[in-house]
Amino acid sequence: MDQIARDRAFMLVSGFRATQMVRAVTELRIPDLVADGPRSAADLATASGVMTEPLRRALRCLVAVGVFAEVDGGRFAATPISDCFRDLPGSLRGVALMLPAESYRAFGDLMYSLKTGEPAFEHIFSMSRWEQLAEEPEQAALFNSAMQFGTEGVRVAVAAAYDFKGLLSVVDVGGGRGTLIAGLLKANPHLRGTVFDLEAGLAETEAYLKQEGVDDRCVLKRGSFLDHVPAGHDAYVLKNIIHDWSDEKAAVILANCRKAMGAERRLILIERIVPTRAEDSANARQLFMVDMQMLVMLGGRERTLEEFRALLEGAGFQLTRVIPTESPFQLIEAIPA
Ligand SMILES: C[S@@+](CC[C@H](N)C(=O)[O-])C[C@H]1O[C@@H](n2cnc3c(N)ncnc32)[C@H](O)[C@@H]1O
Repeated sequence: MDQIARDRAFMLVSGFRATQMVRAVTELRIPDLVADGPRSAADLATASGVMTEPLRRALRCLVAVGVFAEVDGGRFAATPISDCFRDLPGSLRGVALMLPAESYRAFGDLMYSLKTGEPAFEHIFSMSRWEQLAEEPEQAALFNSAMQFGTEGVRVAVAAAYDFKGLLSVVDVGGGRGTLIAGLLKANPHLRGTVFDLEAGLAETEAYLKQEGVDDRCVLKRGSFLDHVPAGHDAYVLKNIIHDWSDEKAAVILANCRKAMGAERRLILIERIVPTRAEDSANARQLFMVDMQMLVMLGGRERTLEEFRALLEGAGFQLTRVIPTESPFQLIEAIPA
């Protein structure tokens, strides 16, 4: 048997253990605690409030999978991988805390989604993920943080890819904490913004926009894009929105955007685009893991360009351009047809 293949296969069946260990050390902020230099398990246990011996065993195991390094004197040191879980903009800290909770439980029922095409999340929790976030502020905060961390990592690239000159007002539809709009407003001092989202999505948005120094140019609007979208703005951006939904619901959201927009307005979807063929690569892993996440958690999907085009045309838009960015995301621009 090919030993490299076997090791990779072993990691796949052990992934659930690694996921929970990464979650725990991230929650305890160990990646931040070792960032300035190696520390002993006893020292880290005192700093994080857990027992030394179990923590030492978890850290040792995380050394074996490459997250930390063990150095002289049994001390644990940072690596480029542990740095990915630090409390820094664009890091994986948000998803490291969110995915091993509800998503982890929902993926345990993956077979339900494979047999029905419906989200296993709803089968397990008897409500949609959005209903859960509306009811549980702690979950919503975790979710919003995960979105913030992810979007902070790409917003400079997204802002740099699109020319907002000549546009005065932009609505971030499903803009959540306001991470993207803050990036767009910082890059375009002439622009005014609106973040449109549900109550749970906007829970920390005001404070975030203030912290980013753009609160004087941005307003919040609460509502559901399944009902309406604020009317009369120059541009409508939707980042990671259409992929959350089935074709049927995505069509409703796009139709509501179309109704809100005058003839000269622009719609910009910010999404990853599914290539014609899957491959074993870092980009493909991110894309298809998120695609499965959409299936299991929300009933959404990642789409090919032709699938986006069909959705847009069905909602009264004409796809005008696809603009690549220095990130895995592409901007899909459309205007009213
Ligand atoms: C995947 S997150 C993307 C957040 C943000 N656009 C980003 O990329 O960082 C989806 C967003 O859609 C919002 N959302 C879900 N259902 C909604 C609805 N019916 N109306 C408005 N916003 C909704 C969520 O609250 C969340 O902020």
